[in-house]
Amino acid sequence: MTGLKTRVRRVDAAALAEAADLLRAGGLVAFPTETVYGLGADATNSEAVERLYAVKGRPAFNPLIVHVADLASARALAIFDPLAERLATAFWPGPLTLVLPQSPGCPVAKQAMAGLPTIALRVPASAEAQALLRAFGGALVAPSANLSGHVSPTLAAHVRADLDGLVPLVLDGGAAMVGVESSIVACLHGAPALLRPGGLSGEAIEAALSHPLTRERQERGAQRAPTAPGQLQSHYAPRARLRTEASRLEPGEALLAFGPSPLPGAEAAVATLNLSPQSNLEEAAANLFAFLRRLDASGVTMIAVMPIPSTGLGEAINDRLRRAAAPRPAPHAFTGSTP
Ligand code: TXA
Ligand code: MG
Repeated sequence: MTGLKTRVRRVDAAALAEAADLLRAGGLVAFPTETVYGLGADATNSEAVERLYAVKGRPAFNPLIVHVADLASARALAIFDPLAERLATAFWPGPLTLVLPQSPGCPVAKQAMAGLPTIALRVPASAEAQALLRAFGGALVAPSANLSGHVSPTLAAHVRADLDGLVPLVLDGGAAMVGVESSIVACLHGAPALLRPGGLSGEAIEAALSHPLTRERQERGAQRAPTAPGQLQSHYAPRARLRTEASRLEPGEALLAFGPSPLPGAEAAVATLNLSPQSNLEEAAANLFAFLRRLDASGVTMIAVMPIPSTGLGEAINDRLRRAAAPRPAPHAFTGSTP
């Protein structure tokens, strides 16, 4: 994997054609979606899927999301019950992933589902992701384009920071609009379950279903292979430690602020970024990962985070912050010059 030069290209017709060729040859291409940047591979090519796990350093038991251009393509891969139909019709394309039973003869490589009988499907909304799926002409597995356990990328520069020299091409579509990963809903037996809060609010999903979602809040250790494997406890971790729900700033800490009111002690902050001075949760979600990376890059050892309401996208924001603050099972194996 050494000697590979990573090129970052603005999304245009020539870049899309190059990306589609690379993907057809079993290569990996990072690309923007409306949630976060994904690392794409041909979903039907087992070797490409295995390479993807290896490059990310992702455990083989953690399955991938399969991205398709539209609902018609999704129907070939999974079985939609009436509630799944309703959610897909209401929210695709968009930041929603559905976990469904695989269709008989589903052509997706088994490694992508990590041996589960289910499949996670998403139809991304961003023009760049749609254009790539159409240029490629098939399904793409695409986990977030970061090293396993690190903060998801919302800029092409974040992808390069994690994966430089490991992937040949990063398509640059600017900042991801939503900024947190898709919401994952399982429609398997009866009541739909929210496996991961994300870029589509729980309230919006419940309104479409006309009844409450089951919430599977597994705070599991990394040792155990989960049934919803994305729910590993320590995930989305920056290098600095995080302290959530801070009611005052301690000496030496950096501050991740939210809203207009100053936090006691904030004048002494080593560095400060405000997710949304006007307390707008969409803006806070869009800023979250980039701000965590920026505070981390300033070399601080502790980031204090102000309380954030858990309504709307606040549920996803607080979920990511809790995971980032969770105890780490082992030191991260990042590449590059940093220890
Ligand atoms: O917004 C997103 O979803 C981004 C963009 C690139 O589309 N992708 C993303 O992928 O967040 P990743 O790999 O970082 O997260 C995929 C999540 C994991 O938590 C995984 O455990 C879960 O989806 N997942 C995949 N297949 C599953 C399945 N069959 N059952 C339960 N969970 C599944
Ligand atoms: Mg991820």
